[in-house]
Amino acid sequence: PSRPSFIAGNWKMNPATLEEAVTLAQQVRDGVRLDSPARVAICPPSIYLERLDRVLENSPIGLGAQNLYPEPKGAYTGEVSAAMLNAIGCTHVILGHSERRTLLGETDAFINRKLHAALANQALLPIVCVGETLDQRDAGQTLEVVKGQLEGSLAGLEADQAPQVTLAYEPVWAIGTGRTATPEQAQEVHAMIRDWLAQRFGAAIAARIVIQYGGSVKPDNARDLLAQPDIDGALVGGASLVAEDFLKIVEAAE
Ligand code: G3H
Repeated sequence: PSRPSFIAGNWKMNPATLEEAVTLAQQVRDGVRLDSPARVAICPPSIYLERLDRVLENSPIGLGAQNLYPEPKGAYTGEVSAAMLNAIGCTHVILGHSERRTLLGETDAFINRKLHAALANQALLPIVCVGETLDQRDAGQTLEVVKGQLEGSLAGLEADQAPQVTLAYEPVWAIGTGRTATPEQAQEVHAMIRDWLAQRFGAAIAARIVIQYGGSVKPDNARDLLAQPDIDGALVGGASLVAEDFLKIVEAAE
């Protein structure tokens, strides 16, 4: 397909120390081939971003934040803006991760404001997460839930901006559980997402949008997942904290 593979590591609130974070970033930087056809990014805790930007200097590896606040500045205690992230070297930002939806009450409408804030800031590429819970899957609501999340979180997105957005399909029941979606289960949802994108933006644009799978991606299951026609990459949690494992997943995408 006309899409690059894109592997991103979502470090979440890890590792516990800046020292470990620097070491991990160095290992990833030194392990990814300069001519790798896969795109690679790491998304560490925001407090480490500025330091890790120096580690990644002159490397092709992207640097992502895990969140932003959709205003340029002001009385928003604890928050950071798109421009602030961009200024310290971020290239990407994860938006609407299920942990933030669940633990911090983020809604599709709020995620949509963040999406527009990221895109208004030309150089910050959003990774928008969607995915159903186990109850929703068991109730046969997967496609409907994911469609609703796409409609809400991508509201107002123009066709010419759409290829800048990466989508990450992360079934909540597969996150951190060791229970990966089968390649067929994931492909079914990825194909539905691509259909939705085609209806919304046209087939040519939909064919250019990268859709990552996330949820217990490991070196031993990455290749089968990435072999599916609509799985273009991975958003990796736990395995992105072990350089050797993350690099094997990158290799599987090459
Ligand atoms: O953003 C990453 C996902 O939440 C997946 O996490 O690979 O630890 O299951 P995991």
